[in-house]
Amino acid sequence: MKRILTGDRPTYDSFHLGNYVGSLKNRVKLQQEYEMFIPLVDLHALTTHFNRTRELESNIRGLMLGYLSVGLEPERVTFFVQSKVPEVLELAYFLSLLTPRSLIARQPALKEKLDQGSEDTVGLFYYPVLMAADILLPRANLVPVGKDQKAHVEFARDIAQKFNDQYGEVFPIPEPLIGEVPTLPGTDGQAKMGKSLGNAIFLTDTQEEVEKKVMGMYTDPKRIHPTDPGTVGGNPVFIYLDAFGTEDDKAQVTSYKEQYTKGQVGDVEVKKYLTKVLNNFLEPIRKKRAEYENKPDLVDEILRKGTEKIRAEAQKTLAEVKKMMKLDYF
Ligand code: TRP
Repeated sequence: MKRILTGDRPTYDSFHLGNYVGSLKNRVKLQQEYEMFIPLVDLHALTTHFNRTRELESNIRGLMLGYLSVGLEPERVTFFVQSKVPEVLELAYFLSLLTPRSLIARQPALKEKLDQGSEDTVGLFYYPVLMAADILLPRANLVPVGKDQKAHVEFARDIAQKFNDQYGEVFPIPEPLIGEVPTLPGTDGQAKMGKSLGNAIFLTDTQEEVEKKVMGMYTDPKRIHPTDPGTVGGNPVFIYLDAFGTEDDKAQVTSYKEQYTKGQVGDVEVKKYLTKVLNNFLEPIRKKRAEYENKPDLVDEILRKGTEKIRAEAQKTLAEVKKMMKLDYF
């Protein structure tokens, strides 16, 4: 079975609907066809959040509950915390020996983080090398990432190829998987839902929180009365209805779109319907999360098993790396 790997930085503790549409949904599907690895990359989080170490543990716990609640299965997915796998740093070191400084100095993600105020540390500079090591450690074939991460996966490909050319074949060349993932707008109509933007609906929101957020949602700003013809295209209320409505909702959604365009239905009615749709979608996720929250040792156990599994793989890879590099003396 081919291997797939995506890391998440534990700089937050819960997923929102945008994370679901953009990534989690796809992972739930991919876990059926691939052997999947999901590292919680705390060492990467520290490159920008080195003064926020105390949040990491609860963020990791929160994200783990998030994965499990949407249906990622620990029987199929190897979850682990990056810092529990010291082998990744050893591999990163070997990769760094083959990395032209100028190549990583040019990374657009670095410039972006510096522009956002991150300190210009060697650790931040080293980010892509560590990410390449994440990917190459279990010899992943496929890396699903957003467009903004594509350059990093390409760097991992180049460095894998360079290693293979220099010392002999150890690594498969990983492919980025840039799905045509739709970006979900925020409840305020901004192009992107984001935790720090204050426009997110979280998978952990209660029914009442969802209702409150939906009733306050941005719709068609030009529409004042329910009898004014409204715009459906680009209207977040309808984008959410399309994204989260089930087959059973289709007919009603189509009818609302027609009525809305003609000025025959009010925003409040459509929003009430959307509240129901979202709560129907979230209810099983909340239930599952509550089950896992009731078993507090379970997350620890899943991470312990995952760490064991990745470390066994990591040790195999490193043994081979060292053999190829003729570092297997003594
Ligand atoms: N850089 C990724 C991000 O910011 C996180 C990450 C670290 C990652 N290691 C990875 C993603 C390996 C994919 C594969 O989201």
